Amino acid sequence: MFSFLKIGRYEPDVKRYKDDVFLVSYPKSGNTWMRFVLSNLLKKSSDETIDFHSAIDYVPELSVHNEKVNQLERPRIIKSHETYNKLFPKVVYLIRDPRDVYVSYYHYLLKRLPPGTTFKEFLRMDDLHPSRWHIHVKSWQNQPGVRVFKYETLLENPVEEVLKITEYIGLDKDSADVEAAVKASSFDKMKEIENKNGRPFKDEEAKKLATPFMRKGQKGDWKSYFSEDDIRFLWDEAGEVMKKYDYI
Ligand code: PPS
Repeated sequence: MFSFLKIGRYEPDVKRYKDDVFLVSYPKSGNTWMRFVLSNLLKKSSDETIDFHSAIDYVPELSVHNEKVNQLERPRIIKSHETYNKLFPKVVYLIRDPRDVYVSYYHYLLKRLPPGTTFKEFLRMDDLHPSRWHIHVKSWQNQPGVRVFKYETLLENPVEEVLKITEYIGLDKDSADVEAAVKASSFDKMKEIENKNGRPFKDEEAKKLATPFMRKGQKGDWKSYFSEDDIRFLWDEAGEVMKKYDYI
């Protein structure tokens, strides 16, 4: 069902460099937000407004935008949703409460799911791209070169957290730069930009099946969707990983 989503593995035409940095996450964990922040830090002119089109020029996605990946100046920052890949030398791994992730993913895919699919049914689907949440997190955690950043901590303390990211990836920016980039990438700003400039789509069909990207941008929205049974189901499957990251 999710064949429209590309897997994101390296293809032979993609060059690889030792100083590549990957922005990796399970879908709906704040990847686009961090892409906007990093694009605002990398942009060539302070007048440029980063939008959903131009962010791809600064942080393209592996396998989806291979041509752009090959055109980037080094050190490159590349987006990926894939499960562990030992070929990624340095990884900023974004993690988000899986309960909010599944709610966000459900809304994102709503028009592509069989009509009438309930959240309960979606939560139990075993063919989600690129895996179920806990499998993804387990695949990346404790791997060399991987540093984990939490969506919820970014919400609480964006400037401090982004400074940790820039330091980790070796991007020489001070707190004033980061503050400006964070401000230009706030939820409200990005929503305004989505409404005004739109998003890139592969074709008309993809555009028709899209739902608004900037939905809520909060933590805890899951409480309006999860039944007791859903909470138990996810805990049985992912509780060990959720506990480790304080999603209790
Ligand atoms: S994707 O399509 O997998 O790349 O999705 P991703 O970008 O990883 O995650 C989408 C969710 O991130 C929220 N978002 C933000 N939250 C806070 N602040 C900012 N600036 C921001 N930008 C995007 C977006 O709204 C999606 O979450 P939900 O819960 O659906 O709102």
